[in-house]
Amino acid sequence: MEKIGAYTCNYSLIIVFLIYILSCRVSEGSSIGVNWGTMAKHQLPPESVVQMMKDNGFGKVKLFEADDKILQALAGTDIEVMIAIPNYMLEQMSQDPDAAASWVEANLTAYSDSGGVNIRYVAVGNEPFLTTYNGSYLHTTLPALKNMQEAINHAGLGSQVKATVPFNADVYNSPDSNQVPSAGDFRPEIRDLTIEIVQYLYSNDAPFVVNIYPFLSLYGNVYFPLDYAFFDGSNKPIRDGDLVYTNVFDANFDTLVSSLSKAGYPDMKITIGEVGWPTDGDKHASIQYAKRFNQGMIQHALSGKGTPARKGKIDVYLFSLIDEDAKSIAPGSFERHWGIFEFDGKPKYELDLSGLQENKGLVAVDGVRYMHKRWCVLNPLVKELEDLARNIDYACSLSDCTALGYGSSCNNLSVQGNASYAFNMYYQFNNQNDWDCDFSGLAMITDEDPSDDKCRFPVMIAYGHSLVRQHMKLVNILLAILEGCIVFLLLVS
Ligand SMILES: *[C@@H]1O[C@H](CO)[C@@H](O)[C@H](O)[C@H]1NC(C)=O
Ligand SMILES: *[C@@H]1O[C@H](CO)[C@@H](O)[C@H](O)[C@H]1NC(C)=O
Ligand SMILES: *[C@@H]1O[C@H](CO)[C@@H](O)[C@H](O)[C@H]1NC(C)=O
Ligand SMILES: *[C@@H]1O[C@H](CO)[C@@H](O)[C@H](O)[C@H]1NC(C)=O
Repeated sequence: MEKIGAYTCNYSLIIVFLIYILSCRVSEGSSIGVNWGTMAKHQLPPESVVQMMKDNGFGKVKLFEADDKILQALAGTDIEVMIAIPNYMLEQMSQDPDAAASWVEANLTAYSDSGGVNIRYVAVGNEPFLTTYNGSYLHTTLPALKNMQEAINHAGLGSQVKATVPFNADVYNSPDSNQVPSAGDFRPEIRDLTIEIVQYLYSNDAPFVVNIYPFLSLYGNVYFPLDYAFFDGSNKPIRDGDLVYTNVFDANFDTLVSSLSKAGYPDMKITIGEVGWPTDGDKHASIQYAKRFNQGMIQHALSGKGTPARKGKIDVYLFSLIDEDAKSIAPGSFERHWGIFEFDGKPKYELDLSGLQENKGLVAVDGVRYMHKRWCVLNPLVKELEDLARNIDYACSLSDCTALGYGSSCNNLSVQGNASYAFNMYYQFNNQNDWDCDFSGLAMITDEDPSDDKCRFPVMIAYGHSLVRQHMKLVNILLAILEGCIVFLLLVS
C-alpha cells in the first residue's frame, strides 16, 4: 500500500510538472517576432526559411501580404502569423464587405484548419497615415478595418484573429523635436480619426501596432546623439518630470503611451510592428551597430522592465528577416539592407533571441544552392572608357548598387572597381546569362572572385534560375509521354 502511495505521489508530481511545462509554453507569447518581406530578385525556398526560423526560435512572423507559398510553408508550425492587406486594396475593402469576405475566405479560412497556419492578426494596410501619402488612405482605413474584422467574425475566427493597422510613429508628434514624451499627442490633422481607430481596436481587444525607427532619427539629424539611439545608456539622458530617458526608443514608445492616455486609453495594448537597424547603405548602417541595436532591443523587450511610463514585456517584430535587393531606395540606400540574414540566408552577425545572453549564434538557412562561381567584371585590357559611366548607370538602374554609395561597404572602389561591381550585379540579377556580360564590349566573365575584406561581389542563389530548369524538365517529360503515346498509337493501328 505504501509503495502504491509513493507511486501515486510520483505520478501526480509528474502531472504537475507537465502542466508546468505546458503553461510555460502557453505563456511563450513573449518571444521575438520578425518581419518577412519578399521584395528580392531571388527568393529562398519558403520551406527552408521556415525551417531556419524554427531552428532559431523566432516565435512570430509578420508578412506584408498573404503569400500562398509562405503560408503553406508555415502550416503545421507553432509560429504566430500576421498576414496583411496592402494599401492599394484598402479602397476596395472599405467599400465592399463582400470583397473583405472573399479575402478572408481565400487568405484566412483556407489556412485555419487544424494543422493549418497559426494566423493571429490581419494587418489592414501598412502605415496608411504616413505623411508622405498626403492623406490618400485617410478615409478608407477605418471602414476597411471594420469590414475586415466583421468578415473574420463571420467566418467564426473572431476570437483568435484580430484585425489591426500598423502605423508609422509619425501619427504622433516626434520626440526627436526636443519634446518630452508626456507632451505627446496624435498629429492634429489626423487626431480624431486615429482615436476612432483606437476606440475600435480597443473594443475588439486588438493591439495598436506602431513602427519605431531609432536609426531614422539618427539618419535624419546630424546633431542626434549616437548613444541615445541604442540601449546601453546615454550621457545626456532626457528628464520628463520624474521619468528619465536614456534611449529614443523608450521616449518614442512613451510618446505613444501619453497620446493614448490623453485619448482615454491608458492601458491600450501596444505592439511594435517594425523595429531594426540596417547594415549597409549609410555611414551609420553597419554590422556592429545593427548587432548592438537589435541585441539591445531584444534584451530590453524580454526583460520586462518596460519603458519609464509602462512596465512589462514589449511585443516586438524585428525588421527584418532577409535583405530585399528589389526594395525602393527612395528613403535611402539602406532600405535594401535591413536583414538579420543576407539574401542567401546566412546570418550577418550573432544574435541571441532568447534575451538570456547565452551568446548563441544564429543558424543559417540550410542547403542553399548558388549559381556558378562566376563574376562579370570590367575587362582590364579595354582602353576606350568613354562609355563607362553610361554603362555603369544602366547596370545599376536595373540591379542593386547600394553598396557603392557614401558610407557603404564598397564605397572605396576605384572607377574600374565601380564598373566591375555594377556589371557583376547586373549579371547576377539576370542569372549569369552570357549575353548580360557585354556592356559595349567593356566586360568579361571571370572565375576569380573580385571581393575583398569589406566589399563583397556576390554570386546569386540559384532559385529563380532553377525554376526555369524545372519547367524545362516538365516540358521534356510531357513531350516524352506524348512521344510514347504516338508510338503506341502507330503500333496499334
Ligand atoms: C488574398 O491575398 C492576396 C495578397 O494580399 C491578394 O492578392 C488576393 O487578391 C487575396 N484573395 C482574395 C480572394 O481577395
Ligand atoms: C504628395 O504630394 C507631393 C507634393 O504635392 C507630391 O510630390 C507627391 O507625389 C504626393 N505623393 C502621393 C503619394 O500622392
Ligand atoms: C574608405 O577609406 C577611407 C580613407 O582611407 C577610410 O577612412 C574609410 O573607413 C574607408 N571606408 C570603407 C567602407 O572602407
Ligand atoms: C563609385 O561610385 C560611387 C557611387 O556612385 C561614387 O560615390 C564614387 O565616387 C565612385 N568612385 C569613383 C572613384 O568614381
